[in-house]
Amino acid sequence: MRPMQLERLLHAQGFGSRKECRALIRSGHVSVAGEPCEDPFAEFDPGSSDGSPGIAFSVGDEQWRFRAQAYVVLHKPTGYECSQKPTFHPSVFTLLPPQLLIRGVQCVGRLDQDTTGLLLLSDDGQFIHQWSSGKKRTPKVYEVTLKHAVEQEFADRMVAGVELHDEPEPIAAAACELTSPTTLRLTICEGKYHQVKRMVGAAGNRVETLHRSRVGGLDLPAELAPGQWRWLETADLQRLADFT
Ligand code: URA
Repeated sequence: MRPMQLERLLHAQGFGSRKECRALIRSGHVSVAGEPCEDPFAEFDPGSSDGSPGIAFSVGDEQWRFRAQAYVVLHKPTGYECSQKPTFHPSVFTLLPPQLLIRGVQCVGRLDQDTTGLLLLSDDGQFIHQWSSGKKRTPKVYEVTLKHAVEQEFADRMVAGVELHDEPEPIAAAACELTSPTTLRLTICEGKYHQVKRMVGAAGNRVETLHRSRVGGLDLPAELAPGQWRWLETADLQRLADFT
């Protein structure tokens, strides 16, 4: 990437309008690579043209690395909606720092308010489209707790396929493992509305809790507590795509 004026660099990273970023820099709150800089037009090599971490800078107490594109993973807690304008619960966007919101990150697909687990967000429109489209048939793994105990036959039924209202063909899980009499590890490759709950309901049971543990080849990072997020690094993005 070509050198960038500091004012533009901060603006691109979600620190406000160009004017606001200029004022921040002039007020002495910004350092780049450890050196204070009060010149909004000083030029720096951002050091990243994708989601990888580039040049380090700080704004007040906040330490940042330039990233041309934002790719993040959030451990979604229960009781949050994946909408910008939620109806009954707070939005998952309240769990992210303002810089990511200003950059316009959006959810890659949606989880229900009471579903927990792996949620991807990005400001890269192509990435969002690619990973939320059913066409790619990305496997998504859900840990399901059932209301009623079942036997192996129930898991076999999920894989054989069940009839859902408004779906012309039966919908089948790509895999389903009975992990206890009341828990399943269910893999689906579509992303239909309430798909897991509807599939379980169609087979005469009910989902009590639902947790997404994996998307593509990417597991929910074990270090992320509910409500926490982190950047997706190059190795994570490779893992995500590596599911064949
Ligand atoms: N299936 C559901 O029913 N809900 C989700 O949140 C995700 C998959």
